[in-house]
Amino acid sequence: MPRKIPLKPRDRRQDPPASSPVAIRRALLAWFRSHARALPWRETRDPYAIWVAEVMLQQTQIATVIPYYRRFLEVFPTVSDLAKAPLERVLELWSGLGYYRRARHLHQAARLLTAEFAGRFPENYASLRTLPGIGDYTAKAVLSIAFHQPYAVLDGNVARVVARLFALRGNLHQPQFRRTVGTELAEIFSRLRAGDFNQALMELGQTVCLPRGPRCSACPLKKWCCGFRCGDPEAFPLPRPRRATESHYLAAALLRRGTRVALVRGLDEGLLDDVWNFPAAFGRSPAEALERLREKLHRLTRASFSFGEPVAEFRHGITFRAIQGRVYPVESFPGMPRGSWRWFELARLPQAAISQLARKIVHRVIG
Ligand code: ADE
Repeated sequence: MPRKIPLKPRDRRQDPPASSPVAIRRALLAWFRSHARALPWRETRDPYAIWVAEVMLQQTQIATVIPYYRRFLEVFPTVSDLAKAPLERVLELWSGLGYYRRARHLHQAARLLTAEFAGRFPENYASLRTLPGIGDYTAKAVLSIAFHQPYAVLDGNVARVVARLFALRGNLHQPQFRRTVGTELAEIFSRLRAGDFNQALMELGQTVCLPRGPRCSACPLKKWCCGFRCGDPEAFPLPRPRRATESHYLAAALLRRGTRVALVRGLDEGLLDDVWNFPAAFGRSPAEALERLREKLHRLTRASFSFGEPVAEFRHGITFRAIQGRVYPVESFPGMPRGSWRWFELARLPQAAISQLARKIVHRVIG
């Protein structure tokens, strides 16, 4: 059960004054004014651009997002440009960013915005939540940053800062902890500067109040911070229970014809379904993976063929899966594969909507 750590009576005498929520808010906003990084989505007031950024920033590091964000907005500067584009083009620009469902939802939502909201961004929470891919976090982030509406957002960085500030134990997966963090957050939240306040807390979590080795000496909130005062800020919040890493073997097929290779949609077992991949199968051993790949290829093509010796080995991680892969050239393959296959010119592969895993194989095998 998450709980506030009771302060000893002596500590209570050192409690911050009752006016601390106002002082905390002021100190945080002043710090943000002088320390905010010049991130590209902070140079715009356009709700569309802010929405794209918030979607990309879910599950992806800022440094990775920046070049993708710039390219995406160059190609699709408005909602209507995005709505008009074929999904394949959107996936091409997303390729390498991962979690491709985000791109599919963004595209569907752009089409709905154009069809049902005349291309204008709805400025209320309930309407935003009807759009695909816009959950509680994204709706509140866009409404506060683009429209200055008084919504506080709660992501992992914000939760860490608040948990340390008020010495709250628990982790974000626990509903009671989320509620407690939300209540404390509401106390210090700036309704008048909601967008800046939200981004300031995120920024503090990303640059100062780090998960390991927080830079407390640089923190504008240290004089109010219970985690700092108790000498062990890293004790808050509790670490999230992590799913144990699983080892998987993957066999991938290299079907090459002249300057082209054959790719399929999806990897295996429902993974990476939105992007193109080398035909592949998982197994509990390299031999089982190869056998499953043989069956899969046979099912797909009804042709007979043989595999050559592996031409490359690689390692790749997808969420909790640690994958060891081998790439097998397909020899004596009669005729063309049918169905969901597509032949790709090798020279065009870098721009295609292929998975990061396929990119790794291209790099290893073709250079
Ligand atoms: N992470 C999510 N949204 C962000 C934003 N607006 N600025 C910095 N990091 C973020």
